[in-house]
Amino acid sequence: MKQLEDKIRKVGRPLSEHVLLVDMFLNHQVDCTLMRDIGREFARLFADAGITRVVTIEASGIAPSVMTALELNVPLVILKKARSVILDGGVIQTEVFSFTKQSSYQLTLKPEFVHVGDRVLLIDDFLANGEAATGAAELIKKAGGTVAGIGIVISKNFQPGLKRLRESGYRVEALAEIEEMGEGYVRFAGEAK
Ligand code: G4P
Repeated sequence: MKQLEDKIRKVGRPLSEHVLLVDMFLNHQVDCTLMRDIGREFARLFADAGITRVVTIEASGIAPSVMTALELNVPLVILKKARSVILDGGVIQTEVFSFTKQSSYQLTLKPEFVHVGDRVLLIDDFLANGEAATGAAELIKKAGGTVAGIGIVISKNFQPGLKRLRESGYRVEALAEIEEMGEGYVRFAGEAK
């Protein structure tokens, strides 16, 4: 998605070969016009997938997934990572290890929010190793849903997530695919070295 690549070039900040700072438009300050267009693009890409529900993971997946669910006119479900005293029992959980953050958390879903037969579009902001998406897909399937698609805002293709999810049989669309980055530069898929 050209508009997203331009934004990453303009205000994204590669902190290292592995981490891209996007707090100017995606996960701290949010560019809502861009989020709306991201929602439209995911809705267009998955128009033929019979989506009945969008699922995301808190927190940074929420902005793009709200816009996607709005465009598809389906409910949105936010998987929880933070512990909560209100979510007590009646939940399904799976442990996810974040290589980026070097810590684990329990991804949590109340199964009543994903119905048997639901065709779910899973949306997340970053794809690195694919651990979060794999955990989320597991919960959706446990609840009786089908993962009909996975939409990623930014895939870091030099990490194994995209390849892994596709090899597992998921239909994955990433709006910006970064092949390589370093201090001050980003190379997207399809661009010459
Ligand atoms: P994986 O799920 O693909 O295996 O990825 P990993 O656990 O390694 O990283 C997931 C977390 O790290 C997510 O945040 C994701 O947004 C963030 N992340 C990964 N790579 C980058 C990056 O290059 N830049 C930025 N800014 N974030 C990155 P999270 O723990 O889910 O936190 P939240 O912000 O959604 O609350």
